[in-house]
Amino acid sequence: MNFVIAADYNALSSAAADRIESLARAKPNAALGLPTGETPVGVYREFARRVRESRLPLPLGEGRGEGLDLSHLTIFVLDEYLDVGRGDPRCLADWLDRDLIRPCEIAPGRVHVFDGLSAEPTLTCAEYEAAIVEVGGIDLQLLGLGPNGHVGFNEPGSRPDSRSRVVRLAAESIASNARYWGGPDRVPRYGLTMGLATLRQAREILLLVSGANKAKILREVVEGPMTNDVPASLLRDHPNVTVMADREAAADL
Ligand code: GLP
Repeated sequence: MNFVIAADYNALSSAAADRIESLARAKPNAALGLPTGETPVGVYREFARRVRESRLPLPLGEGRGEGLDLSHLTIFVLDEYLDVGRGDPRCLADWLDRDLIRPCEIAPGRVHVFDGLSAEPTLTCAEYEAAIVEVGGIDLQLLGLGPNGHVGFNEPGSRPDSRSRVVRLAAESIASNARYWGGPDRVPRYGLTMGLATLRQAREILLLVSGANKAKILREVVEGPMTNDVPASLLRDHPNVTVMADREAAADL
């Protein structure tokens, strides 16, 4: 496990944006797995700023800058609520669309999302797994950390060999997601998520953790036992996983 401890949220966002940018330059056809949530908002804002800046005309009429070409990237959205479709204010795919896809002018056709309205969610999950295999696997998987140690919607009790699937949200996740949507009653009870085995197959994982309220759970993830009760702890023996935390989140390590 590698660690990057950033001074604050802006530095954390900038460090993660660096990693995405260097991958996008080194491997223009890379596949990225991306979460929503509040933690990566700054990363996406900073990355989108760089993309826009890279495409500005150069001074003195020298043409355009060496713009970041994202037209060959593939993106997999980490999770979605069940029974929630595009256009619903709670749709996680729409959230990523607003924060990253549209600001970076990434073609919607390059973005894989779980269809929360699928009549056959199990089949949808199997197709998601197949789509990841088809592009040759995920190069870089970004993750946030739930207050109960979840990654995506892999709730406590999730097995390390779990694949993309329908899950019942833990009470703690419903409570913590309530702040996004104006109350716990607005939070769907089920979700679709990439599984822990799916995440562990990514060539590189960045676990983003910000704020004092994540300090205790981050300590469990890093220093406690590797256990299904703290799903993020099961990423610890991945050969290329980096915890990127700000100082507040890293305070108990
Ligand atoms: C949510 C999402 C996760 C997210 C996590 C942390 O429930 N399903 O993908 O990473 O909780 O959210 P936040 O970054 O807002 O703290």
